[in-house]
Amino acid sequence: MKRIILDCDTGVDDALAILLAMRSPELRVEAITTVSGNTRADQAARNTLLTLEVLGQPNLPPVARGEMAPLERSLLTTLEVHGGDCLGGVTRMWQPDGSRRYPEPRLGLDPRDGVDLILDTVSRFPDEVTLIATGPLTNVARAIIRNPARMRRVKEILVMGGAFRAYGNITPVAEFNLYVDPHAAQLVVDFGLPLTFVPLDVTEQVCLMRGDIAGKAERGRIARFVADVTGEYIEFHTRHDDFEGCYLHDPITVALAVDPSLLQSVETYVQVETAGDVTLGQTVADLRPGRSPRVNARVCTGIDAARFLDLFLERVMA
Ligand code: RIB
Ligand code: CA
Repeated sequence: MKRIILDCDTGVDDALAILLAMRSPELRVEAITTVSGNTRADQAARNTLLTLEVLGQPNLPPVARGEMAPLERSLLTTLEVHGGDCLGGVTRMWQPDGSRRYPEPRLGLDPRDGVDLILDTVSRFPDEVTLIATGPLTNVARAIIRNPARMRRVKEILVMGGAFRAYGNITPVAEFNLYVDPHAAQLVVDFGLPLTFVPLDVTEQVCLMRGDIAGKAERGRIARFVADVTGEYIEFHTRHDDFEGCYLHDPITVALAVDPSLLQSVETYVQVETAGDVTLGQTVADLRPGRSPRVNARVCTGIDAARFLDLFLERVMA
């Protein structure tokens, strides 16, 4: 069993990642922290609590709101992708009796800020925690700044982010999470913990198609939520990426913790562009075996897409 912290900017695919993590017996979610990215960290925290309530599970992990703004840049959000509530519009869905299908969460936030919750969780479980970051790396960087000695006791970091031999999705060369806070990303890479990037190179190899969901919403509350939360997200991909489905960037990053054999990766030396006008947020690395004189990260270069999708559907379309 792996102890994990999920640090996310809960939008649609972050919510799906939360569901997958909470329904994977291989993982124990010790804490969830939110960071500004897809939306502000406070709305991401509300979305996280709402998603957790859908599960109907006891003993839910603490959820804390983290950093509201990147280290240096101003915040860029993606509400056009994830919907006005950054949760596919589920907060605007109604029951026949006029009540909300997904009411405001009754669960409360942990009183600590997200960075302190990360630090306290690492302190509780030194050398055991896998930190899975599915948003900009602002919280992780702030935790390193606030208590570097404590963050040395993180076992490993898995980062949904980067685009190495693939185009970016926010600029031609930059992936969104890295683009929002490139300074945080470079600081995290420089810190030197075991770190694996799960970049667009692999996450765009998997598409959850509308047909994978159609007709399954009646299976139960969680399947209904997956169908509801992905509706607008699929519409965006249909218009923007010309396929009737959606990417699962963040669930793939969780799946790496569940079953590392699902993805292939190489060791390399990664740098993040923090100053370029045209190339800001670009992740730069030579992925050819043995070409990097130094190594500071692993970068995923391949994925068993079919096996991942089977695992995802089996665990969240319940
Ligand atoms: O580029 C995709 C990533 O940016 C995903 O984590 C998505 O949720 C957004 O945070
Ligand atoms: Ca995300």
